[in-house]
Amino acid sequence: MARVALLSLLVLSMTASAAICVGGLGVNWGNQAFNPLPPKDVVKLLQMNSVTKVKIFDANYDILKSLVGSGIEVMVAAPNYALYDLANNPNAATEWVKQNVTRFNFKGGVDIKWVAVGNEPFLTAYNGSYLNTTLPAFQNMQAALDAAGHTGVRAIIPFNADVLTNVKPSATTFKPEYIAQIGPMLEIMNRTGAPFCMNLYPYISLYMDSGYPVDYAFFSGTTSPNVDGAITYQNALDASLDGLASALSKAGYPSMPIMLGEIGWPTDGARSATVDLAGRYMQDMITHLQSGIGTPLRPNVFVEFYLFGLLDENSKSIAPGPFERHWGVFYYDGVAKYPLNLASGTTNAATAIKSLVNPPYMAEQFCVLNTSVIDRTNLTQNVDYACGIADCTALNNGSTCATLAEPASYAFNSYFQAMSQDPGACNFQGYAMIVTENPSQGACRFPISLVPTTGSSSGAPSWRLSSAALTLALVLSSLGVLWPIT
Ligand SMILES: *[C@@H]1O[C@H](CO)[C@@H](O)[C@H](O)[C@H]1NC(C)=O
Ligand SMILES: *[C@@H]1O[C@H](CO)[C@@H](O)[C@H](O)[C@H]1NC(C)=O
Ligand SMILES: *[C@@H]1O[C@H](CO)[C@@H](O)[C@H](O)[C@H]1NC(C)=O
Ligand SMILES: *[C@@H]1O[C@H](CO)[C@@H](O)[C@H](O)[C@H]1NC(C)=O
Ligand SMILES: *[C@@H]1O[C@H](CO)[C@@H](O)[C@H](O)[C@H]1NC(C)=O
Ligand SMILES: *[C@@H]1O[C@H](CO)[C@@H](O)[C@H](O)[C@H]1NC(C)=O
Ligand SMILES: *[C@@H]1O[C@H](CO)[C@@H](O)[C@H](O)[C@H]1NC(C)=O
Repeated sequence: MARVALLSLLVLSMTASAAICVGGLGVNWGNQAFNPLPPKDVVKLLQMNSVTKVKIFDANYDILKSLVGSGIEVMVAAPNYALYDLANNPNAATEWVKQNVTRFNFKGGVDIKWVAVGNEPFLTAYNGSYLNTTLPAFQNMQAALDAAGHTGVRAIIPFNADVLTNVKPSATTFKPEYIAQIGPMLEIMNRTGAPFCMNLYPYISLYMDSGYPVDYAFFSGTTSPNVDGAITYQNALDASLDGLASALSKAGYPSMPIMLGEIGWPTDGARSATVDLAGRYMQDMITHLQSGIGTPLRPNVFVEFYLFGLLDENSKSIAPGPFERHWGVFYYDGVAKYPLNLASGTTNAATAIKSLVNPPYMAEQFCVLNTSVIDRTNLTQNVDYACGIADCTALNNGSTCATLAEPASYAFNSYFQAMSQDPGACNFQGYAMIVTENPSQGACRFPISLVPTTGSSSGAPSWRLSSAALTLALVLSSLGVLWPIT
């Protein structure tokens, strides 16, 4: 890693100059959806709800542009696929910072606070694919931020809780196979004042283990407390936070701040993924974290935490589970799923969650099964085709649309909306037809597509500034001037 060593020389002995105020609520804004809510509407939604921190999964140009002047604190991210280059190409981190941080992080621009290097790079399911690149990428990113003079921006790494051993909180350590990598990461975090960032999902523990005590995931007491010496944990969140706290202590960093990069509960698609449970979990979790009570090992400590997630994402991979497309506090269109108070322990109407007003829907039309077609020989294969592309997880056993008389209607409509209501996408060998009456029934909500945003992409970032415009922007931004955004 000679190139890395060279770059590391650029790391100035940066001290954590400004005290970092850790604590407070943010949200994860992912956009893996067919026709996602346009960034300007998402920012409106954040502002209506006084959400002041947002975490995104890349450094999407359109998203960052929409955040200019919003005053919202932002965490941008270098995705896992970028880690190899960031680790091995000496200019990659410098370029990355220039294009994705410096370009936006000027007075009156975007308040970028954190750069996430990878996302859960040591996740067991990745089989160690990013084990050797994450540390050097992290070192290079922090060095590039320092070299560019971004003293208020820190690199962090959102880890999955599976970097920890699965034992009692007081006995928890980082898994030995990661120590050689995580040790030097902690050293950098300690120097810059960055928190250790971990994503936490009691829901997934419960989903994977049918014997998991549901009440232990919640905050109203449990019949199965986790007794750890003199401490009795009544909820999974406190036990996990203290597990991390004791792993940090054993590694030599007893007071390193903790950040929860993702925490949430899904509402559909699988067992225990319901609006009722999610609403209860989210409210109690927010109240608990905002109370400042802290945990038995770290009393009176606030952690900064990011809800997962802001909006449902109907094109996410369901490899981890069919609940993956239903993590939003809001549906895909910015409509709130459950009552929620975003401020600490109060029932103040001013902090009650608000839905987006007038989401940019396409026409109110739906694609449903034509029940006059008698021969249903080929129906299943048509439904399977629709569901192979669009989202049908609400049809799963126990989910919101599981008891529909004609599940094919949900499948056809899901596909039709995913295809932006293209009339050709509502045929299915003659089984389907377009109707204008909303077929939604009770909790089973038939989506209407949002208006596609032309020129923007949900996945890949788009670079629409010419290099001349970019140079101008960089000059202006270095002068602290708001550059014209097209
Ligand atoms: C950030 O910058 C690099 C250029 O160094 C670019 O390749 C990358 O796509 C940018 N955007 C995102 C979303 O990471
Ligand atoms: C990890 O290994 C498993 C089992 O060998 C394999 O099925 C899976 O595709 C691998 N995943 C990755 C990301 O390489
Ligand atoms: C990481 O490095 C170790 C030790 O050099 C090596 O055995 C392993 O194959 C590497 N892993 C990857 C994914 O490159
Ligand atoms: C962490 O940083 C603090 C404050 O800068 C310092 O006193 C301490 O020695 C550091 N810990 C380690 C293990 O380097
Ligand atoms: C529904 O199917 C019937 C029987 O095949 C057909 O006559 C009718 O035109 C279809 N309706 C629509 C709206 O396509
Ligand atoms: C079913 O589909 C096959 C081809 O995919 C077609 O040949 C057949 O006529 C279809 N049957 C009905 C009843 O629509
Ligand atoms: C649906 O789930 C319930 C409860 O978990 C179970 O009893 C039932 O057998 C399931 N039905 C199907 C069709 O899988």
